Amino acid sequence: MLIRRELPSDLDAIDAIHRQAFAAGAPEGAEPVEVGLVRALRADPGWVPALSLVAEDDGGRVIGHVVATEGTVGDVTALGLGPVGVLPDDQRRGVGHALVHAVLGAADALDYPVVVLLGHTEYYPRFGFVAATSLGITPPDPGWGAHFQARTLAAHTPELQGPFRYAAPFDEL
Ligand SMILES: CC(C)(COP(=O)(O)OP(=O)(O)OC[C@H]1O[C@@H](n2cnc3c(N)ncnc32)[C@H](O)[C@@H]1OP(=O)(O)O)[C@@H](O)C(=O)NCCC(=O)NCCS
Repeated sequence: MLIRRELPSDLDAIDAIHRQAFAAGAPEGAEPVEVGLVRALRADPGWVPALSLVAEDDGGRVIGHVVATEGTVGDVTALGLGPVGVLPDDQRRGVGHALVHAVLGAADALDYPVVVLLGHTEYYPRFGFVAATSLGITPPDPGWGAHFQARTLAAHTPELQGPFRYAAPFDEL
């Protein structure tokens, strides 16, 4: 497996990954919102090309994708992670782990202070995520509770507290 940055030739494969990965959460026959979300994020000022990564299998097939985009904690730039998706037939083989570790490493190297996400509380703590509210970072929707998680990076300081705002396309979901 290879993790690398998204290329222009990957866009259809990335659509297909999210279409299949999130199919179970979408109404019957409807396109999962994650497909349009990634497209809208790509056109948003919060898009960071270095933080849209794909996983290729040994045959060169693109089987997974992760993206982190710029939002804010108060008035400080921080990252929101997601969507992350892996083709159903390729799940549970470590692709998701590789993608999340790679995007966190890239975010750290770029000196962002923190990455937040809305996700499963059983899955993300293994990557160093904790409840964001324990760091003083509050979700856009208070109902998200412990599912709103944050991973601090080297540039983080405890003063970084306040409400998190995602890139604008997330507000349109
Ligand atoms: C979540 C996802 C990206 C993980 O990718 P993956 O390549 O399957 O993950 P890995 O193989 O690296 O890790 C598998 C481990 O992740 C955990 N895991 C995967 N999906 C999980 C889920 N929905 N809830 C909790 N844990 C999960 C399991 O512990 C699994 O370990 P196991 O095989 O011992 O049970 C992938 O399953 C996916 O695309 N799911 C559908 C889309 C989605 O839900 N995205 C995340 C939104 S928060």
